[in-house]
Amino acid sequence: MTDQKGVTVWFTGLSGAGKTTVAKKIEELLEKENFRVERLDGDIVRTYLTRDLGFSREDRDENIYRNSFVAFLLTRNGVITLCSFISPYRKARKKARKLIGNFIEVYVNAPLEVCRDRDIKGLYARAVAGEIPQFTGITDPYEHPVNPEIELRTDRETVEESAAKVISYLKDHSFIQLKL
Ligand code: ADX
Repeated sequence: MTDQKGVTVWFTGLSGAGKTTVAKKIEELLEKENFRVERLDGDIVRTYLTRDLGFSREDRDENIYRNSFVAFLLTRNGVITLCSFISPYRKARKKARKLIGNFIEVYVNAPLEVCRDRDIKGLYARAVAGEIPQFTGITDPYEHPVNPEIELRTDRETVEESAAKVISYLKDHSFIQLKL
């Protein structure tokens, strides 16, 4: 495993689109095969590394910038790095891609209505009620990827199907070499 190639798989999409769920599934599959994997997740890192940041454009960009630096270090050291951030701005994602190098952009696409109906964390209801300012998709923009390496439709695919798409991409592009 020492010659494992590093790569960052960057999941972008609305809150509730399934970024974390799919990334966790992939993490589980890869760890079972003894790959070195790390997961960076908006909800988690915002309680540590970026706890000082809010949701203005400036703060979101800073959040993505700091995390892309961590992803860059991990990727450089041969880790498969799974990043789940709304990362709503194209420019910030482009900057992350440039810094990291081996970068696979995954658009976790589920229509806004689906995310709003799922409302797993109850945040959409609160945002619609005006209790959360600058909420992505409601009162704040989301710039979807124009040319992502992978697009997942989590409203039509199972978690397993979405994870399998990413795994296949990693295999087809020689980032992993196992039969998963
Ligand atoms: S990002 O825009 O800077 O990439 P990030 O992925 O780290 O966002 O964090 C998003 C998470 O923060 C959401 O899943 C949600 O749980 C929470 N959150 C709190 N306030 C907001 C908001 N105004 N807009 C979006 N997400 C929010």
